[in-house]
Amino acid sequence: MNIEELMKDEIVKKIAEKKEIAWINKKEIEYREYEKNLPFSDEELKDAEERLKRFAPFIKKSFPETEETNGIIESPLEPIFSMQKELERKYETEIPGKLYLKMDSHLPVAGSIKARGGVYEVLKHAEDLAIEAGMLSVTDDYSILADEKFKKFFSGYKVQVGSTGNLGLSIGITSAVLGFEVIVHMSADAKQWKKDMLRSKGVTVIEYEDDYGKAVEEGRKNSDADPKSYFVDDEKSINLFLGYTVAASRLKKQFDEKGIVIDKEHPLLVYIPCGVGGAPGGVAYGLKRIFKENAYIFFVEPTLSPCMVLGMETGLHEGISVRDIGITGITHADGLAVGRPSGLVGRIMDSILSGIFTLEDYKLYDYLRCLDSTENKRIEPSSCAAFEGVVTLMKDEITRKYVEERIGKNIENAYHICWATGGRMVPKEDMDKFLKTYLK
Ligand SMILES: Cc1ncc(COP(=O)(O)O)c(C=O)c1O
Repeated sequence: MNIEELMKDEIVKKIAEKKEIAWINKKEIEYREYEKNLPFSDEELKDAEERLKRFAPFIKKSFPETEETNGIIESPLEPIFSMQKELERKYETEIPGKLYLKMDSHLPVAGSIKARGGVYEVLKHAEDLAIEAGMLSVTDDYSILADEKFKKFFSGYKVQVGSTGNLGLSIGITSAVLGFEVIVHMSADAKQWKKDMLRSKGVTVIEYEDDYGKAVEEGRKNSDADPKSYFVDDEKSINLFLGYTVAASRLKKQFDEKGIVIDKEHPLLVYIPCGVGGAPGGVAYGLKRIFKENAYIFFVEPTLSPCMVLGMETGLHEGISVRDIGITGITHADGLAVGRPSGLVGRIMDSILSGIFTLEDYKLYDYLRCLDSTENKRIEPSSCAAFEGVVTLMKDEITRKYVEERIGKNIENAYHICWATGGRMVPKEDMDKFLKTYLK
């Protein structure tokens, strides 16, 4: 890799200078072209959805907070029109259309978007093991998986994962409830309360002084050395990805219930915080499959760890880390503190992602206060990155032009969704501190 050569690219230069950028993906192709050669079939997406349905009786039994939804792990979609007005006023911008918050921040089980992919992958692994052992068939009532017999069986197996925090919570909580031995390899950025919570559930937490990439590498090595161990690979896992995609059909159902129709005249614009890329990538893929050319997906990353935009702009994907261009990757957005993006996700996003925004850390807390004061809702700082997308969309020349060319006047009827990716489990003392944090 020739860094000097890379720096000739204006965007890479700006990224290296830790400047905020609004980046449009020039490799995005027409959806009808994309559809001709899909990386995952409808059957694969359907299979993930069906698997979660099969597990619903087990989830309901094991996680009483899912009683109301009959074991379906889902989050509310809430209008945030007061915040929309306040964002327009405060940031002197316009947000044509209607602003909603998809509150994965409050998903049952793990309180973050990671409750989608993470829970899914552990359940799939458990199902595979139990079926192979002749203990389970897909036609069974899966609530039997909560029986002592299964706990004893799963206790002979290990699950391991590398995490900045929230994936560890979701994998740790789900694996522990099934009876697996669990080891979570946590990067230096992970918050103390996340480690404490996991330990209280009997999960082994190994801490690293280094970043997320190191935690994943060590976890993978540790797991590969043990034939009874299964590694949940945040950088490469197709199962995680498929688990996240299910969010899309569930969102469609919520739209139907609210009488919201997405079409050319009523486009959907979605803003999702991005770390390694798995969660936002899976959601993005699912949404594009359903809403096709009428869905525009944007990721948002911290200027202090903008790995996905760096990987996609250079085309190097997992072949480049923010460290290669002098960025440490240390940010207040702990969930997004990832230096090297997932190549699997970046390559899929090449054709379908609209763009990526980056933001400075101080804004995370400003958006948090704004959400709290206008809507009385609280989410974790990493999650607040989502608001930067909707605030900057019409303000930045590059993205405004994209909107004018691609969406035109229909932007007046747009549905904007800021995807809140975490927050329910943040202890009150930590949240109180976040609300009082001013970095500028
Ligand atoms: C709150 C929060 N938002 C967003 C993400 C990004 O997910 P991913 O790393 O899969 O891109 C994470 C990851 O842990 C997170 O914790």
